[in-house]
Amino acid sequence: MGAERNSSRPARILITGATSGIGLALVRRHAPKARVLAGGRRAAADAHGVLPDGVSYVQADQREPERAVAAILGGLDELGWDGLDLAILNAGIGHAVDPAEETPSMLRDVLDTNLFAAIALAQALLARLEAGQGRLVLIGSTAHKGAPGFASYAAAKAGLHGFARALSEEWKGRVAVQVIHPGPTDTGMHARAGHDPGRVARLFARTETMARLIDRLIAGGRTVETISFARFLGRGQGGR
Ligand SMILES: NC(=O)c1ccc[n+]([C@@H]2O[C@H](COP(=O)([O-])OP(=O)(O)OC[C@H]3O[C@@H](n4cnc5c(N)ncnc54)[C@H](OP(=O)(O)O)[C@@H]3O)[C@@H](O)[C@H]2O)c1
Repeated sequence: MGAERNSSRPARILITGATSGIGLALVRRHAPKARVLAGGRRAAADAHGVLPDGVSYVQADQREPERAVAAILGGLDELGWDGLDLAILNAGIGHAVDPAEETPSMLRDVLDTNLFAAIALAQALLARLEAGQGRLVLIGSTAHKGAPGFASYAAAKAGLHGFARALSEEWKGRVAVQVIHPGPTDTGMHARAGHDPGRVARLFARTETMARLIDRLIAGGRTVETISFARFLGRGQGGR
């Protein structure tokens, strides 16, 4: 199962959170040889300003999970994709905040964007993934084990971890399921979350390196993968 399994036609790939960072780097890697539907929260005109030519886009704000699912299914219908080879559910946000000060609306945004929408999308994509003998990849985080300052984000990513492990058993023989936990990456997500990592930021993986490692682990097919500091430093930041 996976994006490469049918070589007679280009793979059909859905990538969420595709307008920035790791998601955009994944789109850039796949777009030359596959058909890609990119998902994001921005308006289409803005998204097409950053996406490579030929990539389709659907606006789907995961802070409203049911509407995001409907929008993505609509985007797949518009392309006539009744099957999918690969879905990479990558959209995510975090807030660096003392849990005692996190407002209900911040908490909802983190849980809805990172967890609820990913679970709802996984459910909604099952028939298409099955039809395409495809693969579902959930992008978690090494923070799923607990990260000071990011408690709700850690909870959401831990939820994804458990969900993927359960799903990989339940959908065995139907759809391959993976959760891949990247380590810190230089996407700007930390700054957007209101977190200054300080000097350690120099050690963060380059976005393209992280996307390359994620692709390699997707090809490997193991249910749970973690891309720790040691792993990406050990593999080097260059290469394809
Ligand atoms: N960077 C790290 O250190 C790191 C480490 C471990 C795991 N991760 C995970 O890797 C994934 C990608 O993160 P990144 O570092 O590439 O972050 P990023 O550069 O901030 O990109 C996040 C993507 O998700 C989109 N997004 C945010 N909120 C959304 C919403 N409500 N609905 C739909 N799309 C939304 C963003 O859209 P806009 O472009 O419009 O903002 C963007 O395309 C996330 O799941 C993150 O948790 C990141």
